[in-house]
Amino acid sequence: MIGVKPRYDGLAEWYDEVMRDPGDRGLLARSAYETLADLLGTGRGAALDIGCGTGLAAERVRMLGYEPYGIDLSLDQLGVASRRLQAVQGDAARLPVASRRVPLAYSTFVSSDLDEFDAAVSEAYRVLRPGGRYVSVCVHPCLNGGHSQVSDDGTVVVRPGYASSGYQSGFEFGSTIRSHVGAWHRPLAEIINTFLAAGFGLVRLVETGPATLPSLLGISVVKPWTPSGPQVRGEAGR
Ligand SMILES: C[S@@+](CC[C@H](N)C(=O)[O-])C[C@H]1O[C@@H](n2cnc3c(N)ncnc32)[C@H](O)[C@@H]1O
Repeated sequence: MIGVKPRYDGLAEWYDEVMRDPGDRGLLARSAYETLADLLGTGRGAALDIGCGTGLAAERVRMLGYEPYGIDLSLDQLGVASRRLQAVQGDAARLPVASRRVPLAYSTFVSSDLDEFDAAVSEAYRVLRPGGRYVSVCVHPCLNGGHSQVSDDGTVVVRPGYASSGYQSGFEFGSTIRSHVGAWHRPLAEIINTFLAAGFGLVRLVETGPATLPSLLGISVVKPWTPSGPQVRGEAGR
């Protein structure tokens, strides 16, 4: 049984429509899937989409040569995702996947939805094969969130709230989707340090997006062949 609240239940068809909007509402999503493709590169084999939502990244990932499959908390999201990829219900912080089986994993727009971010990153590490990569594309924490205000000319005003981690409920947001589901805010250093603390090595970071200031952060990390440095919570026992 899944103990975490699926905030996207009841919103799946609407979410999918907003993300696929050919106009401004879909701009950030299109840019995120291109960033994902850039960081993944071409290849073969299975690729696990952690927090696959309605499966919107699947087509782009298939074009790269991989076969995507997904896991998400929300059964409603999975109902739509089933049109695009094989996917099952599961919690990113307790992945229903054996250790060291997954050659490649990725997430788009998920880190700001995870209640237990450090557990989810440790789980990604646990299920990856040594040498396996995890790519995460998320909104850039410096310039998105309840602490920031974006003007029509692209100027972003960032308030002191940037420095504090926490869940920000929907009413703190002007944006379409976040005003419904809220978001977790974690400062940039906390995000990067969570990957390093889990044992990952940093491969590449990109700050990008459709506007002049970077609204997206892309992170590519690798599970080393030989574990080193700050060590891993997760691999024992599974
Ligand atoms: C903003 S949506 C992104 C969905 C998809 N990756 C995309 O690009 O459209 C965030 C997704 O994360 C899922 N999610 C949130 N917490 C989760 C968890 N603990 N385990 C698995 N999925 C989770 C939500 O159900 C939702 O589908």
